[in-house]
Amino acid sequence: MGDDAAVPAPELPGGFVFGTATASYQIEGAVAEDGRGPTVWDTFSHTPGRIERGEHGDVACDHYHRYADDVALMADLGHDAYRFSIAWSRIQAEGSGAPNPKGLDFYSRLVDELLAHGIRPSVTLFHWDTPQALEDAGGWLNRDTTERFAEYASIVAGHLGDRVSMWMPLNEPFVHSLLGHALGIHAPGKVLGAGVFPVIHHLLLGHGLATQAIRSSAPGPTEVGIAQHLALAHPATDDPADAAAATAMQTLHVEVFTDPVLRGRYPDLDTVFRELDTSAIHAADLATIAQPLDWFGVNYYTADYVQAAPPDFPATFVPTDPPTPGPRTAMGWEINPGGLTDVLVHLRDRYGDDLPPVYITESGVAFDDRPDEAGFVQDDDRIAYLAAHLGAVRDAIDAGVDVRGYFTWSLMDNFEWAEGYRPRFGLVRVDYGTQQRTPKASALWYRDLAAAHRTG
Ligand code: FCB
Repeated sequence: MGDDAAVPAPELPGGFVFGTATASYQIEGAVAEDGRGPTVWDTFSHTPGRIERGEHGDVACDHYHRYADDVALMADLGHDAYRFSIAWSRIQAEGSGAPNPKGLDFYSRLVDELLAHGIRPSVTLFHWDTPQALEDAGGWLNRDTTERFAEYASIVAGHLGDRVSMWMPLNEPFVHSLLGHALGIHAPGKVLGAGVFPVIHHLLLGHGLATQAIRSSAPGPTEVGIAQHLALAHPATDDPADAAAATAMQTLHVEVFTDPVLRGRYPDLDTVFRELDTSAIHAADLATIAQPLDWFGVNYYTADYVQAAPPDFPATFVPTDPPTPGPRTAMGWEINPGGLTDVLVHLRDRYGDDLPPVYITESGVAFDDRPDEAGFVQDDDRIAYLAAHLGAVRDAIDAGVDVRGYFTWSLMDNFEWAEGYRPRFGLVRVDYGTQQRTPKASALWYRDLAAAHRTG
């Protein structure tokens, strides 16, 4: 991939926000420190056979202890903003009850450090690490979890809302419900099939309740959004059955998660699942879910390809490979920057003025990085990937979509869920033996791109 770095740097509007994103369990470590309670990811990753090589997040990037150095590094790398998530079980060890001052203090110090370096904090309240005690009571299948989530949101917003304004209750309810609860690939490892619907609904209800809680508890101004994993679906062949399957998959991947939030209603769910119990939906829920949002976050990695499912399958579609073999990432995902433009334009076309300003809350790539003796990675492939995806954002802006910023996944290499530490998504390399951080060539490229767009 020698000449990849020759991809021209995209031109974004002045003031466009360049940030990075991480999540608590993927970087923090310190899982038993200062009163943090166990979460579904602690349990899952210590269950034999769940994670590649038996890896877990007990230490991860040791960010809990190294956060000040990590923020200094972000400042050196010229980041405007930093999206991180709060571990619910550091704030309430069992997901309910009195807040833990040490947990609140950690995030308070992190926020202060960011602000001292001129970096805007952007806070996710739930990036999949449900307190184990709540899971034992049914987790997201239990409607009560939505009320607990709103209480937790209110505690955190009350404590940090004098300094944090950009909030998102949820990260990727699609991935958490599907991989965690329908297919059992992620924690908590439930295999519910179409029985996942109450989990979907409760996550969305939790989003609505937490949005209200943030707005009523934060002492300062708030800008509340959501980080949604989105992709459009393409039929594997031109068989009409595959076309119908693609429509169904896209309904599940996009509209099931965006229509309730932006329009206060579900799309036609009968096309998605063969048998569906929607009794989890109570009368006023959709009005609660559809809180007006200040911004909307898109996480994008790759497009979907699908074909019709056999009749005994719980859904009407099954994912398949892209028809033409092209370049893939270390996750095996097709590299498809145009798919990001497609998603953004689709949102604008479907929701019109109901779509608030958009941030790309995650976009990035794992490649098989090859460090030199000093730990430096000349990752021209990642530079090309980022340039192409930022170019795709530029195309969407040119098509009239109001995109305000881009958070690269991720600041640094980290624990990639079921794949453990093998995939390296960072702009910064982490040597897990020494915890040494070394910015990759892509981090320097991103720094220069951000600097070229800074206004004022
Ligand atoms: C997203 C997750 C994030 C990370 C990236 C690669 O789905 O939100 O935590 O794992 O994928």
